Amino acid sequence: MSARVSDHPLIRHKLHLLRERATEPKKFRELVRELGTMLAYEATADLALASVRVETPLTSLDAHRLAERVGLVPVLRAGLGMVEGVWEVLPMAEVWHIGLYRDEQTLRPVEYYNKLPVQPTVDVCLVLDPMLATGGSAVATVDVLKRRGARRIKFVGIIAAPEGVRRLSEAHPDVPIHVAAVDTHLNEHGYIVPGLGDAGDRQFGTA
Ligand code: URA
Repeated sequence: MSARVSDHPLIRHKLHLLRERATEPKKFRELVRELGTMLAYEATADLALASVRVETPLTSLDAHRLAERVGLVPVLRAGLGMVEGVWEVLPMAEVWHIGLYRDEQTLRPVEYYNKLPVQPTVDVCLVLDPMLATGGSAVATVDVLKRRGARRIKFVGIIAAPEGVRRLSEAHPDVPIHVAAVDTHLNEHGYIVPGLGDAGDRQFGTA
């Protein structure tokens, strides 16, 4: 499976600002939040609906409400910045935190925090991480979610490397990948090129 790359003009516009090295942390956070809103909007286009009778001030009609509960799983720390944005369109979504850091020697994910419920309490999980680089953290997060019983999982990111898309798709072909761009490659330090640098450092001003 390949990534679903948004071609929405607003997403492309905001992505060029996000990539720009001169973009300061305040603006960077705002863009991550806004892109989170728009990418979640696209990623949730297939959520199931149920009929509901509604009384308007004028009459009544059969309308629709969401029939699926959604959980957000931001991968700490960079994924945190997308949560507020996704909440704009899914204010009722639960947030489950999982912390993984990348061992700089092996480039493999190491889990250091896990606040996922033992039993799934939602129908669809959106794994949030702005950067799908090697795919190691994404695969590890989906592994954990599946072990906890999650059945429908989607990955929502901003920029992916082809290596990350391949690795996540091979490990979890049932997990659709929604991003704003797939860049050319990873460099020897595991950074996406051209990318935007370290999404955590740029949000939290730690570069
Ligand atoms: N994580 C980032 O924040 N940036 C990259 O380019 C790769 C992983």
